[in-house]
Amino acid sequence: MELPRAVILAAGQGKRMKSSLPKVLHLLCGKPLLWHIIQSAKAVTSEQILVIGHGAEQVKNYFGEDFLYAEQQQQLGTGHALQQALPNLPDRGELLVLCGDTPLLEKKVLEELILAHRREDAAATVLTALMDNPEGYGRIIRAEQGEIERIAEELHLAAGQEKIREINTGSYCFDLQALKKFLSVLPQNMLKGEYYLTDMVPVLREAGLKVCSYKIKDGRQALGINDREQLAWAASRLRERINAALMRAGVTMIDPAATYIDAGVQIGRDTVLYPQTVLEGHTKIGENCRLGPGTHLINTLVGDGVTCRQSVVLESTIQEDAVIGPFAHIRPGSTIGPGVKIGDFVEIKNSAIGPGSKVPHLSYVGDTRMGPAVNIGAGCIVVNYDGRRKHVTRIEEGAFIGCNSNLVAPVKVGSGAFIAAGSTITRDVPPGSLAIARAKQENKAGFSRKFLKKKKEQ
Ligand code: UD1
Ligand code: CA
Repeated sequence: MELPRAVILAAGQGKRMKSSLPKVLHLLCGKPLLWHIIQSAKAVTSEQILVIGHGAEQVKNYFGEDFLYAEQQQQLGTGHALQQALPNLPDRGELLVLCGDTPLLEKKVLEELILAHRREDAAATVLTALMDNPEGYGRIIRAEQGEIERIAEELHLAAGQEKIREINTGSYCFDLQALKKFLSVLPQNMLKGEYYLTDMVPVLREAGLKVCSYKIKDGRQALGINDREQLAWAASRLRERINAALMRAGVTMIDPAATYIDAGVQIGRDTVLYPQTVLEGHTKIGENCRLGPGTHLINTLVGDGVTCRQSVVLESTIQEDAVIGPFAHIRPGSTIGPGVKIGDFVEIKNSAIGPGSKVPHLSYVGDTRMGPAVNIGAGCIVVNYDGRRKHVTRIEEGAFIGCNSNLVAPVKVGSGAFIAAGSTITRDVPPGSLAIARAKQENKAGFSRKFLKKKKEQ
């Protein structure tokens, strides 16, 4: 059978978020609210139309050309929003209507809704859920025979109806022929001046058409995000799901409740995540790594066997068996080679560190191309900025930079060269040579004894 099409309503402002960002662009595990429901919709429909309005340009910019967009100029309610998408839809077939603010609905539930709709050969099927706290949702009002009669919004509940725990999830399956015929006759709600999509239930019933409902088993999936408290709650639910899937695939988490992983992050088998590990964006981790505690990686590629403790890594690549931290900061554009050691209080920026090299303590390395097996002593600084421009430093294979040295860029240290501790290097150092660039030491015999004696006499 042909797949249904989908319309996702995402034009609302989301007043209750108290935000300048359109509600559907607020992030949940690194992706906008709208992204999550789109993934579920894509799995069960042939085409997705997004109804946009508030912040339309921002929404389009994020989601790009893969979708059809229908614009709702004025936000006159969910029914009015769906009306805007009708010209893009064929006259026959099935239509799934979803809300942009229900990110936890999984594709399986949408499949069940479509199947229930087909089984009953209904004109419309409403996806409902039982909620412990139904406050704020439209409640399902049933007729004597138990069939769905209408949906009452919180604002319009009659006495006693607030206790009804069955709610409207805001997702529906429609027969397009019936929808196209009757959507235009939706009444305008007197209290709010809006056209409620929920009023399609009585409209279709009065026309003698069949309206059914399908109740989802796990009510928590139906959560609609209207405010930031609900956003945080949904994020914790989604994190549980992401973490559970990773653990099933062979990742160890010491404390999954304290491990924060964005949707789409990949992690190899036998990697161990310690608490307070945060993995964001397009991050991919290899096998047998040890990350955390307290490690934050953003858009970073990590090879197999890497250890990274208490460190921050941004937009960089860490190759196999490297050891990072504790307390390292690796900034964008860096490649940390295989077996490299980056130790405590080290900052690396836009640099390549060759295989097996070591930057173990208290150093800054910026805009540097470092070969293999280089050793950087404690407290070395690459002086990459002259106040106007950044310059490149090259350090060739096996060079040994003594503690507390400055390399003033642009400069090159040849392979196997030594730099004496405390040097400020301003000229290239040829391969295999020793550079000393510091004042010669002078010892003044007996000085301190004389000094102290004078002090006593005063
Ligand atoms: C809606 C339902 C309610 C249901 C709840 C589920 C109606 C009248 N009420 O209420 O029965 O329990 O969802 O979460 O449908 N939107 C537009 N254009 C508009 C108005 C809204 O595109 O003019 C979009 C919003 O961006 C949002 C979705 O429709 O993604 C739902 O709108 P919202 O205002 O959040 O409706 P609720 O009050 O939650
Ligand atoms: Ca809502």
